[in-house]
Amino acid sequence: MSIDLAIFVSGRGSNMEAIARACANGELDAKVAVVLANDATAAAVTIAQEYAIPAVVVANQGLSRQEHESKILTALSSYTFDFIVLAGYMRILTPDFLKHFRDPRGFYRVINIHPSLLPAFPGKSAYEEAFKYGVKVSGITVHLVDDQVDHGAILAQQAFPRHDEDTLETFMRRGLKVEHLLYPRVLQQVSQNGIKLQIRERESVEI
Ligand code: GRF
Repeated sequence: MSIDLAIFVSGRGSNMEAIARACANGELDAKVAVVLANDATAAAVTIAQEYAIPAVVVANQGLSRQEHESKILTALSSYTFDFIVLAGYMRILTPDFLKHFRDPRGFYRVINIHPSLLPAFPGKSAYEEAFKYGVKVSGITVHLVDDQVDHGAILAQQAFPRHDEDTLETFMRRGLKVEHLLYPRVLQQVSQNGIKLQIRERESVEI
């Protein structure tokens, strides 16, 4: 099966490009139906255009979260897609927005990539925090989005080492390479096998 994606971006767009490239070279059986950016100056918008992917900008400046999300819904209504894929999208999506993308099985059809081994180091500075903490191993998580930040069911994780001689820059560079391999690979699994959910034991464990 092939899946159609709406990719949400805010900045550099290297993950979006990795996904677009994987679609173009046949490694990922998917189509990027639209790229949605909240910032017209995002490099990701130019990259989308280079790949001939429709890019829609809905700026959030001066809008309440609700107004912004309602404009996004209107902008997306001319496109059809199976999943929203967050790739460096720097805005938190509200439950009111997410409910428009609810799967009958009870999860949102929204996927995110986060640069740490969740639940360690949630939030927007994961690389910096993991590096500062002195971890010997870090990693990348691809997960479903739920109502809490960096929290939904984990679809895949891949670890990478932090070397003693690493600077934050070399550490991040190693992680980003993992991101670019992992995200298209997980989306390919979703495209081929759908989403298989695992119940989190920790939520039902009594101490
Ligand atoms: C990546 O590190 C991703 O894990 C995080 O934001 C960054 C986006 O980078 N959520 P890019 O825009 O894909 O280059």
